[in-house]
Amino acid sequence: MTADPVIRFTDVTKTFRRPDGRGDFVAVDKLSFEIAKGEIVAVLGKTGCGKSTMFNIVAGLTEPSEGEARVVGHDPFREFDFFRGKIGIVFQNDRLMPWRTALDNVLLGLQVLDTDPKQAVETARGWLARLGLSGHENDYPHALSGGMRQRVSIARAFAVNPEILLCDEPFSALDEMTARDLRAEFVRLVRQNNKTAVFITHQINEAMEIGDRVLVFHRPARIAYETRLSAATGEAERRKVQEDIMRVLSVEQATA
Ligand SMILES: Nc1ncnc2c1ncn2[C@@H]1O[C@H](COP(=O)(O)OP(=O)(O)OP(=O)(O)O)[C@@H](O)[C@H]1O
Ligand SMILES: [Mg+2]
Repeated sequence: MTADPVIRFTDVTKTFRRPDGRGDFVAVDKLSFEIAKGEIVAVLGKTGCGKSTMFNIVAGLTEPSEGEARVVGHDPFREFDFFRGKIGIVFQNDRLMPWRTALDNVLLGLQVLDTDPKQAVETARGWLARLGLSGHENDYPHALSGGMRQRVSIARAFAVNPEILLCDEPFSALDEMTARDLRAEFVRLVRQNNKTAVFITHQINEAMEIGDRVLVFHRPARIAYETRLSAATGEAERRKVQEDIMRVLSVEQATA
């Protein structure tokens, strides 16, 4: 018997009204998948294929047009309050508040949850330290590099001790060396803290470095390919997976 999934999509469809009135636009098309506790799932797909729309549905920011999305058994859109503190989000651009220091940015989520102020400061400092930012607590975002700002966003996401971490291309604006360090750091923190994570990317190498499982989306969002990876997956097999993914993505290009 398997435990209930942390995230379950059943035939989720999302349509948007076209601004020019030419009917509806399908962004997500009868998408079904399950993500189990402790998994890190990388979602890979080309620009415009509906990754962020799927992400917004998981985060409760958008409601499906049809089908059912459940996160820990609840409806993320209709029960938005239930999810306070349960989902940590890292966006592509760091979305730090420029008028708050690194520490105050990390504190934000804890303050929203009414954490005891002394405890909150201790927790926020602890997370900044874990991400190598001791000594930068009082720096404002403009004084930090892009990589450091993304570290602050990761600290902010983990600080509330959420069950689920959602990342929407958080490292795509960073140089490859910095991105690789942060990916490794992120995976380590997810595992150490026994979290479940969904990580969106459009880079094959990033998806394969991060994911226990890689889902490749077609446009509109539905699963075109899926694979599992582990430390035991050998070089030859990884190369094969990479080729398969490239083929799946290029078939889509040819038919787009
Ligand atoms: N609020 C909205 N209203 C209308 N159309 C939308 C809306 N949000 C997304 N779309 C459309 O849905 C499609 C999927 O968008 P989405 O942002 O989910 O793609 P994505 O896979 O995240 O792309 P990227 O890799 O560029 O971030 C796009 O064609 C987009 O224009
Ligand atoms: Mg997106």
